[in-house]
Amino acid sequence: MRSTIQRCVDLSIFANIYLFMNRNLLVFTATLLLGACSHPGNNISNTPLTTTSQNTSPSQSSTDFSAHCGYTTTIGQGPYYVSGAPLLTDGNLNYTNLPGDTLILSGYVLEGIDNPTPIPHAQIDFWQADGLGDYHPLGSGSVNDYGEKEIALRGIVTTDDKGYYQVTSILPKEYSRRPRHMHVKVRVEGKPELTTQLYWQLDGDSNRVTASDVNPSSQPCQVLTPTLVDDAFLSTYNFYLR
Ligand SMILES: [Fe+2]
Repeated sequence: MRSTIQRCVDLSIFANIYLFMNRNLLVFTATLLLGACSHPGNNISNTPLTTTSQNTSPSQSSTDFSAHCGYTTTIGQGPYYVSGAPLLTDGNLNYTNLPGDTLILSGYVLEGIDNPTPIPHAQIDFWQADGLGDYHPLGSGSVNDYGEKEIALRGIVTTDDKGYYQVTSILPKEYSRRPRHMHVKVRVEGKPELTTQLYWQLDGDSNRVTASDVNPSSQPCQVLTPTLVDDAFLSTYNFYLR
């Protein structure tokens, strides 16, 4: 029996087909379909339910790479990077089952912006704060410097043969003066490592993304607006490498 989320993803694929036919009709159709899949009683129901070219449901069929904001911007790694994080063959970043709102992030790693080419077997190293705004550990160095149980929400996902990745996690909480964000390092053989951050802003968040968080030119694409489907926040982001 097909699950509700699979039906919703299927519906989103159907909506994406309309992208090539009529962008305005897509917005109308996607709003109706995704609205029907949302849970009115969810405690974050004031979150905008939207789809854009960079923020659709996870789907390997979303291979229209023409809508972008140029090359992915380099953003500093911050003080809490720990090297040697585990390789996540199942894409589950929350392998310690920390509480929080489910986040499913997916997309492609691409080379070029004029005629983007997917990059298979790229490594994407993620690290983030938990649902309370805490890092595990609250420090840097190597995983060898910490006990196994101190490491959480840190891991490496690899793109498949088509350059596609998907990671399941929890929505990072704001902390200090920083908005919700996830840190990322993208590694491709023969290319310089890309370090950057992705952002989320929900209704009610007190910390907003500012020019000090990200190069203003990258904000339209690196600030993600999630779609809420079956209590999971779905976001897509394609990394554009030089
Ligand atoms: Fe951070």
